[in-house]
Amino acid sequence: MIDFHCHILPGLDDGAQSLDESLALARQCVDAGVDTVVATPHGHGTIIDTLLPCRSEALQTLSEALAKEQIPLRIYPGLEYFADGHSVDMAVAHPEILCGVPGTPNRPLLLELSIDMDLHFVADLLFMAQLKGVPLVLAHPERYKNFRKSFQLLCDLMDKGLVLQFNSEDFRKSFFHHAIPNLMLALIDHDPTRVVIGSDAHNSVRRPAGLAVAQETITKSLGVMTWEQVSLKNAVELLGI
Ligand SMILES: [Fe+2]
Repeated sequence: MIDFHCHILPGLDDGAQSLDESLALARQCVDAGVDTVVATPHGHGTIIDTLLPCRSEALQTLSEALAKEQIPLRIYPGLEYFADGHSVDMAVAHPEILCGVPGTPNRPLLLELSIDMDLHFVADLLFMAQLKGVPLVLAHPERYKNFRKSFQLLCDLMDKGLVLQFNSEDFRKSFFHHAIPNLMLALIDHDPTRVVIGSDAHNSVRRPAGLAVAQETITKSLGVMTWEQVSLKNAVELLGI
């Protein structure tokens, strides 16, 4: 399984604050059956120049620690890029902000929106991204204010090539909270080839790693083949691994 969205790198953002915390998240991944993680610290235009060298250093530090601790987890560089009108130009100028193996063509941009942003903005970004050959992955659409009334819009955008990344914990259903998980499942059912799953883990206690909630819910509702599609096959193709 591949975790497509994880704040596992130490000391870069509001995710892991230390190497020990990164290793705790890594152990949670492995215990949950995750063998590959895209490390996606928060990033936006004005901090990219300083963030990218720090990300390289943090990735190397964590990779060495994983080897030393014999934790079998592969980590690929990525970024959760906060969308603005220049997102696509930024991805072209700084391909290091894309997710996956550096140098591989057609790597995706993982894009985060502000919580109350109109999702129609994504349609414009998708159009610009496709002109430049940049696949677009929208981070946790279920967290945006307009999600519940944007079902048809998201279906249309998926049909045009947009990939949705859902957070595992957001599939958790309760008596009072089932509309959003049901919409997430309906979007997967609309096109299982346009969805990837992430933990969006920040720390091992309050926002832990692993994809167990999504695995259980999706497997139960849509079957194990769909789970393999969204938790592995789609990510492998996007990342070029
Ligand atoms: Fe995130």
